[in-house]
Formats: sequence, structure tokens, C-alpha cells
Amino acid sequence: MKISVCAPGKLMLLGEHAVVYGYPCIVTAVSSKIKVELENTLSSKIQIDAPQVKDVSFVEESIRIFKEKFKFKEDGLLIKTYSEFSSQYGFGSSSAVTVATLYGLSRLFNLNLTKKQIFDLGLKVTLNIQKVGSGFDIAAATFGKTLYFIRGGKKIEKLNIDELPLVVGYSGIKASTPKIVQQIKKRLKKEKKAIFKIFDSIGKIVEEGKKSLLEKNYQRLGKLMNENHTLLKKLGVSTKKLDQMCEASISAGAYGAKLSGAGGGDCMIALVPLSKKETVEKAIENVGGKILKVRNNVSGVGYEKNI
Ligand code: MEV
Repeated sequence: MKISVCAPGKLMLLGEHAVVYGYPCIVTAVSSKIKVELENTLSSKIQIDAPQVKDVSFVEESIRIFKEKFKFKEDGLLIKTYSEFSSQYGFGSSSAVTVATLYGLSRLFNLNLTKKQIFDLGLKVTLNIQKVGSGFDIAAATFGKTLYFIRGGKKIEKLNIDELPLVVGYSGIKASTPKIVQQIKKRLKKEKKAIFKIFDSIGKIVEEGKKSLLEKNYQRLGKLMNENHTLLKKLGVSTKKLDQMCEASISAGAYGAKLSGAGGGDCMIALVPLSKKETVEKAIENVGGKILKVRNNVSGVGYEKNI
């Protein structure tokens, strides 16, 4: 038997970093997907063919955790991964490949696990490898759409919204999320009060942002994104390039803009009136950003044709 499953990447809309410390965040699943093919073979080995080297450890750990929990017989298996996006962008290729592998194994072995079970296993896999993280990326890959999320899956609420008018710009620099999360942890030791004050403000922005999203109040949502970006700058995780890309977007007519993810590079997002989309895209390119054409608010993990 051979099956083919897909899981989406993600973009953080509001709340990065604070989410690691128990505050909520809002994440949306994006149309750049990871595909995983799983096939029974006659050999007695598990073979993994993952062109993105980083993916191999996540596939291996997913298999290990799955085996440990469900004690499946180690017959021959060929697992191939395909990525629609570069792992450079910070779209969460590791979380998507983890979720797709776990979902694929659950289907191949007729276990039909619930999405919550897939999420819990996926979280274990990423924490075993990366040691840090809220699990928001695993939630986006599993459940899809746009989620209000609290660390560890304490709350995973699907927001009933349409696709957002977002422009996504890549700064050209690959960031290491675990490294930046560790940097914040270090700073917390010395400046606990100041950092938690920032997190409190971010938490409030997320709550307001959730309301604005549900009311489709993009003007307000844009303002909140700007405020969130300013707070991330205070945390010290933005870069000159990301700031320039955000400023250029706002000058070109975006409702608001912010870095998305851990910072230190990767992507920024701008919320735009549709009439200003191209102007904003050009403005980002003019300061050296690369526009990534992705849809947001897409479905979570599923069989290839269904996502
Ligand atoms: C990274 O994209 C977002 C962080 O909040 C880390 C996490 O939530 O796992 C910085």
C-alpha cells in the first residue's frame, strides 16, 4: 500500500515569544505544504528519503515515538518527503514534516488517530529534538485554518474567518528559532520584570487581535500588528531589514506590518487593503525583501488531494 499525505506550513500572526511563556498567540496555516509518501516494501527496513537533511531527524523521531506508543511491527517501509518551500523561510517545515509523517503512519496502520492525538505526538517529537517551543507550528500543521493557541495545546480554538489579505516578505536571512528563544530565556534571568511587561502587552494585543479578526476590522488589526512589532523590537528580536520591510509596507498603504516568527530574519507580514497589494509588494522588494506568494487560512494535514 502507498499513501500520500500533506501538511501545511504556518505564519505567526500575533503573539510570538510570549506564547512560549503561557500567553496566547494567533497562527495561520499557509498553502506551502510538505508532502510525505509512505509505502510498504518487501524489505525489512525503514528507508527515509528526505532531500531536506533537517527533515530526516524529525521523520526518524516521529517513527520512533509512533513505534514506542503503538508497537507496530517493523516491516519494510519507504518514506519520502517533498517540500514545496525552502526550510529557509521559517514556514515550519520541521513541524509540517512531523505532522505529515505521524498522520501518514496512523493511516497506513489503520489507527485513524484524532487530530488531537496527532498534535500531542507531534509536540513530543519537536520537544525531543528542539527542546524549546510552544507547539503552535504543530497545531497549525495539524488543524490548519487560523488558530487562537495556548502553549502545549492548552487551548486550540479555530477562528471562523476568511483568508486574510496578507503580503509575505522574506528578509533573505535564515533565523534559528531555538537559538533566539534561548536568548530571550537568558535575558529573562536578568530583566524578568521588563520582559514580562512586554509579554503582558503582547498578550493583550493577541486578545484584541482575536476580536478584530472575528469582526473583520482590518484597520484595527493592522494597528495591533504594528504595536506587536514595536514590542518585538523591544525584545531585541527584530532586524534592520525586517524593520525596513515593515516600514516600507506601512508607507505604501498597508494597514499594519510585523515580523512573523522568532525574528532574527525569516519573514514579515503586512495586512493590506486589496487595492494596495501590489504597491506594498513593490515597496518590500525595493528595500531588498522577497515576496512569497502563499495563501493563508488553509486546511490542516490530510490526504494529498484533500488539503
Ligand atoms: C517562532 O516561530 C515562534 C516562537 O514563539 C517560538 C514558539 O512559539 O515555539 C518564538
